[in-house]
Amino acid sequence: MKNQSEWWHEFFPSFRPVFERIPAKATNAIVRHLIKKLNLEPGMKFLDCPCGIGRIALPLARKGINITGVDFMQSYLEELERRAKNRKLKIRTVKADMRRINYQNEFHAAANIWTSFGYFDKESDNMLVLKKMYKALKPGGRFLMLLLNRDYVVSNFMAKDWFTAGNTRVFTETEFDYRTSKMKGRWHFVEDGIEKKHEMTIRLYSYHELAIMMERAGFIDIEGYGSIKDEPINKDSNGMLILGVKPRR
Ligand SMILES: C[S@@+](CC[C@H](N)C(=O)[O-])C[C@H]1O[C@@H](n2cnc3c(N)ncnc32)[C@H](O)[C@@H]1O
Repeated sequence: MKNQSEWWHEFFPSFRPVFERIPAKATNAIVRHLIKKLNLEPGMKFLDCPCGIGRIALPLARKGINITGVDFMQSYLEELERRAKNRKLKIRTVKADMRRINYQNEFHAAANIWTSFGYFDKESDNMLVLKKMYKALKPGGRFLMLLLNRDYVVSNFMAKDWFTAGNTRVFTETEFDYRTSKMKGRWHFVEDGIEKKHEMTIRLYSYHELAIMMERAGFIDIEGYGSIKDEPINKDSNGMLILGVKPRR
């Protein structure tokens, strides 16, 4: 492992089959929701960070939105590029750590989707991601996050779980550290009888905490929902959608 706290370097190459688990219907619903909540229109500039294999970026590009997709995984970006080319879509891909992006007043909207937040050991690094997203937006630009809700995880805690993703079976063993609010997992990926084990650690947030962090980053008009039906966030909301706006000044 590169550095014990930089678990994502080893984890995400094995994670690739897990993308297959998300039904196209669910992705399409999120895409429609992003278009609505971020007021996206053809020609607008949108930052998808991190973008993975382009699950969200590709359908948005098909709607004529001008996408920049950032991810640190070269193989994911290459897959996104191949799929974009096959569909005759243009998407700018950037290989970068989400803490290190340096855009300023460039995007009409941005998103961080599918619990792609809280990966860093230092809280200041998680905060830095919000600040970088804020900086990347034009005044009036809108930002949406979709991530696991800490309150749901602690009240429905699953110490062990398993699922299949394509030809891969995935077993997870998870602990929750109440001192740090970090979920520590050991994931076993088994394919063709070969097992790969990886550790991961995600800082989980409750809505009120993240709202404070978003405010500290500079966002205003913060709204949170427990589903794309705009239900309120409570302990039964598995995911949270949190929206913030960069002031026009
Ligand atoms: C759960 S996936 C979500 C991807 C995409 N947002 C989606 O909804 O399909 C998390 C993504 O974060 C990327 N990632 C992990 N650590 C990163 C980092 N430090 N900087 C940039 N991307 C990172 C992974 O490569 C992976 O594509």
